This record gives sequence, structure tokens and C-alpha cells, in this order.
Amino acid sequence: MSAVSVGARRGPVGLGSDSTAVVEFRHVTKTYSRTHTHALRNVDFRIEKGEFVYLTGHSGAGKSTLLNLMLRRILPTEGSVVVNGFDVSRIRVGRLPQFRRGIGMVFQDHRLLDNLSAIENLTFALRAVGARGNLEQRAMQVLRQVGLAHKRKAYPIELSLGEQQRVAIGRAMVTDAPLLLTDEPTGNLDPDTAMEILELLNDINLRGTTVVVATHARDLVDRYKRRTLVLRNGELVRDDAHGGYSL
Ligand SMILES: Nc1ncnc2c1ncn2[C@@H]1O[C@H](COP(=O)(O)OP(=O)(O)O)[C@@H](O)[C@H]1O
Ligand SMILES: [Mg+2]
Repeated sequence: MSAVSVGARRGPVGLGSDSTAVVEFRHVTKTYSRTHTHALRNVDFRIEKGEFVYLTGHSGAGKSTLLNLMLRRILPTEGSVVVNGFDVSRIRVGRLPQFRRGIGMVFQDHRLLDNLSAIENLTFALRAVGARGNLEQRAMQVLRQVGLAHKRKAYPIELSLGEQQRVAIGRAMVTDAPLLLTDEPTGNLDPDTAMEILELLNDINLRGTTVVVATHARDLVDRYKRRTLVLRNGELVRDDAHGGYSL
């Protein structure tokens, strides 16, 4: 049970043909016009509620572009992107806060606030979405889940890189978003710590959150076999339900 309330977990239904898809890309093309870069070409896939999906491909293949479309940091040039029931090209400004609350995001560099402790980074995120109730209690609950309750008072500089990434994952989860996106979340970590982070993301997925992990690290994808989408030069060249990286 969550100790706080942050509003509806789901977006409006009825936009897509099937409301169980958390993410749906329909014939999505993204061209960066200034540089004439065709970052994605005619990409089509769905991610269902509760899935764990790797998004792989070499550097420059289009992984971050795909995540940025899901976050609505950029808009598709052609086609449609639907996330949590919202068509990103058609969201009204007034619905943006609700849209943003539906997605948790973790980057390669943790991007924590350096002047706030671990628990304060989480309560700050809760306040930012207007959460009410016992925010410290909710933050502690999540810090326990990511294995860092004992470091609640530590500032980012006092934590290892793996611990910093755990706090960042906690911050992305604390508002109870149904979709967690991660862009190279293990990129700065040694192999053992990287595996621990993947195990944590797997635990989060088992609790019901849909998780997308963008990574070029083929050893990780091979060790932890899950559905794998492979991008090559902006094209979705494989969608393998059983995982594995090899192109
Ligand atoms: N903001 C941008 N403006 C112009 N080109 C971009 C921008 N972001 C990414 N690109 C280009 O789009 C392609 C895909 O990049 P990206 O999505 O970052 O790939 P990946 O995350 O798989 O490394 C690359 O050729 C990259 O240079
Ligand atoms: Mg990238």
C-alpha cells in the first residue's frame, strides 16, 4: 500500500484500439531536420502492461531517440506514439502533468540533486508531482526496496556509483509510475554492480511496473534473457520474445 496519493495511475482510455498496451509505436519515423538525420524509420511495436523489454543496438542506432519520443521530449515526424493511453502528438497542455506522472526515467548519469540526501531526493520528487500524505514514509518504503534504507541520510557524493543509481531508480519509482524507462542505466558501472542494478529492475518489474532498458551492453542482455527489440540504423530489425543480443 502506498502511503501517499499522486493521482490517477492511468491515462485516458479509448485512444488506442486496445488499452492493455502501455506503449504503442505505429509507423514511427523521426528525422532530425537540422542535421537531416533519419534516426528512426517506420518503427512499429507494442509493449504490454507488465513487460520487461530490452532496447538494444549499437551506438547511434536510435535507442535514446525512441525513449525521448516516449517521454515526449521530441515528437514523431510521421506516425504515432501512444504512451499510457496518451498520443504524444495530441496531448493538451493541461494534461501534461498527468502524462509526466505516468513515466519514471533513469539516465546513465544518475542526475541526483547533490545538495539533497538520498531520502530528500525522493521526497523532492514526490513534492514535484504534488503528492500528499506522509512523504518520508513513502520515500523510506522505496529506499528499502532499492536496498538503501541505511543510507537515507547520505548525500550523492557519499554514495558509490551503484548506490547513486539505486537512489535514481528509487526516485523514478517513488511516484508510482506504471512505466519505468531507463537509458543505459548500467553504463558507468562495473559488471557486478551492473548485474545488481539489472536484478533490481527485474524485481521492480515483478511487482507490476512495465520496464524498458535501453542498452548497448550485449553481455547484460545475453545474461538476463528477456524480450529484446534490436534497432539498426533506425530500423527495428528484430523483436525477439526470448532475448539475446546477437545481430
Ligand atoms: N537532438 C539531435 N539532433 C540531431 N541528431 C540527433 C539528435 N539526437 C540524436 N541524433 C542522431 O540520431 C541518431 C540516433 O541517435 P540516438 O537515438 O542517440 O542513438 P543511440 O541512443 O542508440 O546511441 C544518431 O545518428 C544521432 O547522431
Ligand atoms: Mg543513447
